[in-house]
Amino acid sequence: MKIAVLPGDGIGPEIIAEAVKVLKALELEFELETAAVGGTAYDAHGHPLPAATLALAKAADAVLFGAVGDWKYDKLERQYRPEQAILGLRKELGLFANFRPAICYEQLTHASSLKPELVAGLDILIIRELTGDIYFGQPRGRRTAVDGHFPGSEEAFDTMRYSKPEVERIAHVAFQAARKRSRKLTSVDKANVLETFQFWKDVVIEVHAQYPDVTLEHLYVDNAAMQLVRQPKAFDVVVTGNLFGDILSDEAAMLTGSIGMLPSASLDKDGKGLYEPIHGSAPDIAGKGVANPLATILSAAMMLRYTLNQPEAADRIESAVKAVLGAGLRTGDIWSEGTTKVGTRAMGDAVVAAITGKTITTKT
Ligand code: IPM
Ligand code: MG
Repeated sequence: MKIAVLPGDGIGPEIIAEAVKVLKALELEFELETAAVGGTAYDAHGHPLPAATLALAKAADAVLFGAVGDWKYDKLERQYRPEQAILGLRKELGLFANFRPAICYEQLTHASSLKPELVAGLDILIIRELTGDIYFGQPRGRRTAVDGHFPGSEEAFDTMRYSKPEVERIAHVAFQAARKRSRKLTSVDKANVLETFQFWKDVVIEVHAQYPDVTLEHLYVDNAAMQLVRQPKAFDVVVTGNLFGDILSDEAAMLTGSIGMLPSASLDKDGKGLYEPIHGSAPDIAGKGVANPLATILSAAMMLRYTLNQPEAADRIESAVKAVLGAGLRTGDIWSEGTTKVGTRAMGDAVVAAITGKTITTKT
């Protein structure tokens, strides 16, 4: 089994180093190969997704991805910006199904900005379509307006679109995921305004006929955003488009205490996947050794479970993370009175120690 390791920018290399340490502690047979991606790759090779990196990602069984982006690249032409690396990988590898579980760990109930009783025991799964919608729709660009409120002025535009097979395949993924959980699926749309999302809703209803054992409900995205902070535990599996999923998954992350805790899996039709924390490159704290590596470590666990077919190894990582939280270790983002603040490396070491059965270090 070969894993492509793409650390990227900002805190990417720091958090990936901890996840790699944890993977190595499992003593399984994998080959890890690292390549440049994002702004780092642009600096070294003139492109955020160099051909060699893409080839490695395609050849590998799974991809472990850190994060990309830094303000210093914001002035570059869009095609050279770091974000194009992750968008390009999703597109080129056909990673249309994005799983973003939001689990509130018992020990972190108080780290959430919501009242503890609202989030205690929260365990929801957001399934975001990842290769369509306004993210990839063509045409897009800038031009001179010929109509609208200000004809003759400069304007910018993007295209929101979904084809029927694109909605069908993500709906199947979502219904199947719901079957493995509480058999309840919420499809999020904006059918009251957008043609694309009336179509989305119609297609999801059609696919539902094949899953009569799953309860399907529909929410408009504005209402879904509100319900997520009003009564998050009313949700179980949520399926939505690329743009709404981007926004709602950040919101859901905060319910769990910190975006630094949330892993993700982006899968193709055969279950090959790219695994990444849902947080970004956090350039403000890069290099300081304070970033929370748990989202990346948990992403490695998802990789073992979904693509590498090693559920026991995934369990070992997830149990180790719980043990470390249980022992009171916290990075700054999840720290609260009475717990021990540790840095990125100490957190990774503690997870390794929990896996290998050694005592948990509490040094920062
Ligand atoms: C995410 C990120 C990306 C997205 C960016 C970095 C392109 O926000 O994975 O949620 O918008 O999809
Ligand atoms: Mg996002």
